Amino acid sequence: MDRSLVGKTFVVTGATSGIGLAAAEILAAQGARVIGVGRSPERGVQTEQRLQAAYPDARMRYLTADLALQSEVRRLANDIRDLVNRDDNGILDGLINNAGTFTFWQALTAEGFETQWAVNHLAPFLLTNELLSLLQVAPMGRVVTVSSGSHYGASLNWDDLQLHRRYNGLRAYGQTKLANVLFTVELHRMLGSTSSVKAFAADPGLVKTDIGLKDNPALARWVWKWRSSSGISPEESARWIAYLATEPSIQNATDVYWQHGEPKSPSPRALDEEAAWWLWEISAGMCGLDVEPTS
Ligand SMILES: NC(=O)c1ccc[n+]([C@@H]2O[C@H](COP(=O)([O-])OP(=O)(O)OC[C@H]3O[C@@H](n4cnc5c(N)ncnc54)[C@H](OP(=O)(O)O)[C@@H]3O)[C@@H](O)[C@H]2O)c1
Repeated sequence: MDRSLVGKTFVVTGATSGIGLAAAEILAAQGARVIGVGRSPERGVQTEQRLQAAYPDARMRYLTADLALQSEVRRLANDIRDLVNRDDNGILDGLINNAGTFTFWQALTAEGFETQWAVNHLAPFLLTNELLSLLQVAPMGRVVTVSSGSHYGASLNWDDLQLHRRYNGLRAYGQTKLANVLFTVELHRMLGSTSSVKAFAADPGLVKTDIGLKDNPALARWVWKWRSSSGISPEESARWIAYLATEPSIQNATDVYWQHGEPKSPSPRALDEEAAWWLWEISAGMCGLDVEPTS
């Protein structure tokens, strides 16, 4: 049995279902300490207990946070810092920004942000900034952000990034997945080639999960059920997410966008460095952060 991750610690968001749950299980099976994040305390406890029973040597811990809210992301980051400082000598080996949502109808969070923009883009942006100092002391820190092939057809509507005026669920989703790649491009640039922390955006392919079934109208659920039925399993997809978070041989890779363990060209819009910087500045403003990542 591969026990190569004993002594290493990873945070996986959206670890209560689909790709994130499968990634948490893969890391636990290899002996890692896994801090899973979910929005449901019940599902968190159940998953923690199930994985701990399946992998008695793994160190599982599930934390609850609604990543739609920046207040919750900040509280989560504090809880993770406390755990990692207490149990892992302040070293975090990887952060997998996987949690994601598709919302057909326009919905605002209690903090006034469009929900997909908040969960899919602002939450990984803020959580990464909050945890960067823990990742920077790891010998090989990794930030893996789960994007999507949906980013290929997307462009950012700079005048109305959250589509407040003319909302379209699919367009909003595509924008957030493009934002995931632009965020990774800029993080990569800011960290520089000599940093021990590497940032990758993962394209998981089409995966048979319930993402399109949650809180969506019947037609959207039916379309997703039909479309995703030809997808790969969450386990197959998660293998490659875990690979990006752990594989030593890609530590010096300069490719930002990966699918199934291979670098892939993202859309030209995703490689626009000026757009990446501009998006970073806007996102920092939305999160009340300084522009340079915290270190
Ligand atoms: N499935 C695909 O074909 C596909 C393709 C490309 C990209 N992706 C991306 O892959 C990632 C994982 O998606 P999936 O397909 O595995 O979907 P999923 O099974 O629905 O998993 C999404 C995870 O995110 C969590 N989550 C959603 N909203 C949250 C919130 N406000 N706060 C905290 N956690 C929240 C979910 O929690 P609950 O368990 O409580 O719902 C779940 O654990 C997403 O970023 C998605 O965009 C998926």
